[in-house]
Amino acid sequence: MSGKAWGGRFQKSAEAWVDEFGASIGFDQQLVTEDIEGSIAHVTMLGECGILKADEVETIKGGLEQLKVKADNNELEFKVENEDIHLNLEKMLTDLVGPVGGKLHTGRSRNDQVATDMHLFLKKRVVEVIELIQQLQDTIVEQAEDNIETLAPGYTHLQRAQPISFAHHLMTYFWMLERDKQRFTESVKRIDISPLGAGALAGTTFPIDRELSAKLLGFSNVYQNSIDAVSDRDFIVEFLSNGALMMAHLSRFAEEIILWSTDEFKFIDLDDSFSTGSSIMPQKKNPDMAELIRGKAGRTYGNLMGLLTVLKGIPLAYNKDMQEDKEGMFDTLHTIVGALKIFEGMVRTMTVNKDVLHKAVHNDFSNATELADYLAAKGMPFREAHEVTGKLVFTCIQRGIYLLDLSLEDMQEGSNLIEADVYDVLAPEAAVKRRHSLGGTGFDQVKKQLELAKSL
Ligand code: ARG
Repeated sequence: MSGKAWGGRFQKSAEAWVDEFGASIGFDQQLVTEDIEGSIAHVTMLGECGILKADEVETIKGGLEQLKVKADNNELEFKVENEDIHLNLEKMLTDLVGPVGGKLHTGRSRNDQVATDMHLFLKKRVVEVIELIQQLQDTIVEQAEDNIETLAPGYTHLQRAQPISFAHHLMTYFWMLERDKQRFTESVKRIDISPLGAGALAGTTFPIDRELSAKLLGFSNVYQNSIDAVSDRDFIVEFLSNGALMMAHLSRFAEEIILWSTDEFKFIDLDDSFSTGSSIMPQKKNPDMAELIRGKAGRTYGNLMGLLTVLKGIPLAYNKDMQEDKEGMFDTLHTIVGALKIFEGMVRTMTVNKDVLHKAVHNDFSNATELADYLAAKGMPFREAHEVTGKLVFTCIQRGIYLLDLSLEDMQEGSNLIEADVYDVLAPEAAVKRRHSLGGTGFDQVKKQLELAKSL
């Protein structure tokens, strides 16, 4: 006899350290609320279907409700010897209400039970994640609205490329997050399915009503195949994948924030409340939060790869390998919730140094495309216009000046198509303003973009 819930056929017990290795209670206790909710729905259904008597149902439900109160007050004491959240709660229930508690597991297995817990848990948490994404998007829109006419250098290859509206740059992250939000939202329909009643894998001989327990738990659907119900972890992979991609986006944004807050860029200042100092260098103000978010993207990729690898070789139906689906999921959830909250605060409180950005854009060659376009508009083939402009840029580099510093005569050395109106065209403000193409950086387009973003 092993003293376990499943101990009948065993002649001896595993040693404590072996139990310890197999136990999941250290982490699956985070499913305590969902496990109790699932059990209440299951026992209610058993009563409705006449499988358990009304007084048995009442006793079991009463016990579960007491456990729920204790769980809410953090008063439950979980034990490794009881392996996981399901067996811990079942033991607590029978201690509380007596042997009738053992009837709760009628027509159910831990396999459909654990899958139900995971579906319930993620369904709630994904909604919270979606709300946090929305809050960050709102904050990005606010910063963007303050910076529609703030000119900034736009980069390719991290080299100054063309002047842009700083709002346009910021809004890029809004759209990335919009897609993240859509992905999380769309994933809900694959989370919102009840596996409860699938049993170990084959269904059950008891006349259960799976649709009723699903309804009691607020699920919109039930799995149509009992083996699929207990073997499916796609919805967790999808969550990890959506989280990982969102972290890739936040990591790119974090990298820009880190760059922009250097002395070399100085495009923004992070608020003191989202920065840290150095224990040795008194002058330091470090963008630790942004760096951590950039760094934490790594663990979310790891969690995704971890679960994909766990799943790839396991035969149907349940295998204990699947217990490994949990820690990565909790970790990714914890990481993305933290990252979204921090990011929102960091972006809301940062100061955009408009004057630095203004200067930056007036002291570079990011208006060179304007000159090439100007010549092309006057009939010169664009390739030739590119060459002429390149040569003028080279002249400027040699003299340590910028295009706007060239005299008209100097410009005309390049091409006599150039006239005095070129100076208006070369002004960075004009370069931005004239980019009216749909989705371009022109101020009017950016305003339209912001209106659309706010209407979503
Ligand atoms: N702790 C287990 C898990 O997380 C619960 C399911 C156990 N089922 C079983 N047949 N051993 O996957």
